[in-house]
Amino acid sequence: MSVQPKPERKRITTHQLQEMKGRGEKIAMLTAYDYSMARIIDRAGIDIILVGDSASNVMAGNETTLPITLDQMIYHATSVVKAVKRALVVVDIPFGYYQGSSGEALRSSIRIMKESGAHAVKIEGGSEVKDSVLRILSAGVPVMGHLGLTPQSIYKFGTYTVRAREESEAVKLVEDAKLLEECGCFALVLEKIPAALAEKVAKQVRIPVIGIGAGSVDGQVLVMQDMLGITQEFKPRFLRRYADLSSVVTGAVQQYVKDVKSSAFPNEEEKY
Ligand code: KIV
Repeated sequence: MSVQPKPERKRITTHQLQEMKGRGEKIAMLTAYDYSMARIIDRAGIDIILVGDSASNVMAGNETTLPITLDQMIYHATSVVKAVKRALVVVDIPFGYYQGSSGEALRSSIRIMKESGAHAVKIEGGSEVKDSVLRILSAGVPVMGHLGLTPQSIYKFGTYTVRAREESEAVKLVEDAKLLEECGCFALVLEKIPAALAEKVAKQVRIPVIGIGAGSVDGQVLVMQDMLGITQEFKPRFLRRYADLSSVVTGAVQQYVKDVKSSAFPNEEEKY
């Protein structure tokens, strides 16, 4: 009897994500920043992997996303892309690499795509970044938008609290979402806004809306370290923890230390 080769897992495309919205299939997205974790979550069936600039917080230990550089984002993205067979890999353009001009935004996107092999970029903001979004798209690079709480503007907001509770900010957010769709963005992240507003946006645009603290929309995104319980201090209401890896790792390391100190490790079978 001949063994049939396993069918290749088909890569998720921006087009497929839009079809998923069309048939009401929810989109699951998580962040990843390294080869080993990206391989696990890709095999587990994640649709989109975001190489988020949250790497600045969870990988580099910075207080905000602002310090991370384009070179550092490309380093993380390159490691992730090598691991991924199925998911669409989206990379954040970090703070300071697209705000100067649309030419700068294009150059940053091209570096990300060329050097890492990623499939799309994400950019924070609405009408302020319209020219950059159009310029990046003109080079054939898919763009994901990001509205609501945009962490790169944290010093303008002054706080990580829920955005767009005020009517004027909510109106601008809906206009920006429509604008990003018109420009050609393939999807939109909405972060930390009232659920009713996010649902309204998801109904008014045809592109998938992925929420984080934005209620039930076309898909969800979480920072992997948060949902796995690696980060302990960060406990916003929207975060569901699916594991307590901090305790698992602490327990394993404590046991290892004990075994080394007592010479219980290595045993006879673990020696050559
Ligand atoms: O950088 C990031 O992890 C993000 C998500 C929170 C959407 O932008």
